[in-house]
Amino acid sequence: MKIGEQAFRSIWTEGDEVAIIDQTKLPHELKIVHLTTLEDAARAIADMWVRGAPLIGATAAYGMALALRADPADASLATAYDTLHATRPTAINLRWALDAVRERVGRLDPGARAAAAWTLAGEIADEDVATNRRIGENGLAIIEAIARTKTPGEAVNVLTHCNAGWLATVDWGTATAPVYLAHDKGIPVHVFVDETRPRNQGAGLTAFELGHHGVDHTLVVDNAGGHLMQHGLVDLCIVGSDRTTALGDVCNKIGTYLKALAARDNGVPFYAALPASTVDWRVRDGVAEIPIEQRGGDEVSHVVGMSDRGTVERVRIAPETTPVANYAFDVTPARLVTGLITERGVCAASEAGLAGLFPELARKR
Ligand code: MRU
Repeated sequence: MKIGEQAFRSIWTEGDEVAIIDQTKLPHELKIVHLTTLEDAARAIADMWVRGAPLIGATAAYGMALALRADPADASLATAYDTLHATRPTAINLRWALDAVRERVGRLDPGARAAAAWTLAGEIADEDVATNRRIGENGLAIIEAIARTKTPGEAVNVLTHCNAGWLATVDWGTATAPVYLAHDKGIPVHVFVDETRPRNQGAGLTAFELGHHGVDHTLVVDNAGGHLMQHGLVDLCIVGSDRTTALGDVCNKIGTYLKALAARDNGVPFYAALPASTVDWRVRDGVAEIPIEQRGGDEVSHVVGMSDRGTVERVRIAPETTPVANYAFDVTPARLVTGLITERGVCAASEAGLAGLFPELARKR
């Protein structure tokens, strides 16, 4: 995707180094950071310089390679796995990528491990781009079907939550890929962007992406979705996922569940777009079993933004003594999900639906 005239992925290599965009600085500043050690990669994920399930996975894979370059011994491999695994608890793509690297390089001679891990990390990144493009094509068919019901020139209105765009993946995004392809094909599409408190990934990242791609969009507060749907202003919701269970429960950014409830009450189709690497085939009951990240209370008690003076500032919005809880994700039960948009097609949010598209993965669990 492009920022201005320059094409970007969210992660790339420069010589021996891994380059990322520090997403905590967006949309105010485009800051490129170079990662050269395991600790750099772990910090980038934990401090959310990179975030979004697929990008967390790709960064972790490069983190393994950086660790093995410094020390390829078995103990180093185990430490790197554990260090990266501890960075964030909810997105399953993290474990998926770490497992893939450990499996590929664990049986090699130590001297061959770093190069093999670096190559695999590159493959994971490239494959993510191709996968998201396929998710986009499969989701595009849904947008096209709705567009056919509209008068010429009338936009298809999509509501999305958080950022499941190219910044959350290596490129294209999951939820945004169908939107980008529709836009590129000349189909009028408009996106309602939930601001996504507390960290405002919708306002800071999704709006930034859509704007740079020229996609018509409107930023709304998180609680606007129900009202918009009651008034027929939303044709479909598309969100991403951090972990989807074998039975189709969708874990995603906090507030996704409320959008799904509002969508069901108003007969609005609600889709989650995700790659197979986001499915946790071992988990059946999302509400009971998926670990939900709880982050620092200051993300809720404060807001960060650019002041009119042009400086980025952090201001308190709650009394100093007010206790705060900060649950970062929630689980939308499969019964509220119209369908899962994957790289192999669109399926029902159910065990049969997922196993039908990914029989070899469903069998392995
Ligand atoms: O806390 P974040 O910013 O990592 O949360 C990201 C999301 O919730 C995304 O919707 C999800 O990772 C899907 S990314 C394609």
